[in-house]
Amino acid sequence: MSIIRSVVTGCGAYLPEKVLTNEELSQTVDTSDEWIVERTGIRERRIAAEGENTSDLALHAARNALSDAGLEPGDIDLIILATATPDLTFPATAVTVQAELGITDGAAFDIQAVCTGFVYGLTTADNFLRCGQHKRALVIGAETFSRILDWEDRGTCVLFGDGAGALVLEAQEGVGDNSDRGILRTRIRSDGRYQDKLYVDGGPSSTQTTGYLRMEGRDVFKHAVTNIASVMAETLEASGVEPKDIDWFVPHQANKRILDGTARKFGLSNERVVITVDRHGNTSAASIPLALNVAKQDGRLKRDDLVLLEAMGGGFTWGAALVRW
Ligand code: ACO
Repeated sequence: MSIIRSVVTGCGAYLPEKVLTNEELSQTVDTSDEWIVERTGIRERRIAAEGENTSDLALHAARNALSDAGLEPGDIDLIILATATPDLTFPATAVTVQAELGITDGAAFDIQAVCTGFVYGLTTADNFLRCGQHKRALVIGAETFSRILDWEDRGTCVLFGDGAGALVLEAQEGVGDNSDRGILRTRIRSDGRYQDKLYVDGGPSSTQTTGYLRMEGRDVFKHAVTNIASVMAETLEASGVEPKDIDWFVPHQANKRILDGTARKFGLSNERVVITVDRHGNTSAASIPLALNVAKQDGRLKRDDLVLLEAMGGGFTWGAALVRW
């Protein structure tokens, strides 16, 4: 049986130039490199320059992904941009990117699922492509979390960074089994009862301010471990795939302890886990495509490899995707 698959044909990313190390942070807040590395695995993160907005990071990543795919902007008829740090309340940052790319056809919109945004974006694009409504999509994760951090709160400001990553997806025919290239399965979840565990304390309707990120770290940690494991297990089971079949586990890069614990639970050896949290920090919706790009650039991630992605974030939202590269 022939079916439509959303096949990854391009991958790109972008990081702002400025590196902020733990050592530098420890000069402005009461923390230390040792504490941050031990609890999170983070050593440094990137910070967007003044005047450098989420759309700027997204645009660089999108151009890199298009060039990797060998496509022109006009070949794209759908742009989905996952972000919790849009340039403006509206219009969507996706339409700014669309305009900068010179695209006047198709549709562009933002998705807000915080750190799970990229998995939500992939899922949405996959459904649009598989139903035949669009042919080629750019799915971008882009964030400037440095703008919503309370730089006096050591419990949160040490965790996050800025960056962007993007994939080009193209509707192509597959045979309908796990040997197909493309997105094989996605699963997204949310549970709004936990929104007070991780949120931003401002917004246009409530306070008319942007607000700052607030988090109950321990509770987020506990839920992350449970939710990520359950959505990964459901995705693998529904696909008839065993953890041993996975070539690359590319998790949302929140905290090395969460990643290591999850990989251990599924018997995924360290060599099969792509980790960038040490250099990027938690870049929210951008972390998965940034990590995919690192693994592609350094030659680990190759065509036909089976890749498992997962993420969990504010809401709570969480999800996983199984992709044959
Ligand atoms: N430097 C030094 N000390 C610190 C820092 C810091 N940056 N931050 C907190 N502390 C102190 C606390 O004040 C506390 O001190 P006290 O015992 O004197 O009160 C002590 O360290 C322990 O604090 P906890 O919050 O209990 O530390 P914990 O071991 O839970 O680690 C952390 C905190 C790293 C935030 C952890 O809870 C975590 O990783 N949670 C997950 C959060 C996360 O990943 N969020 C991202 C978004 S969601 C997602 O992407 C999955």
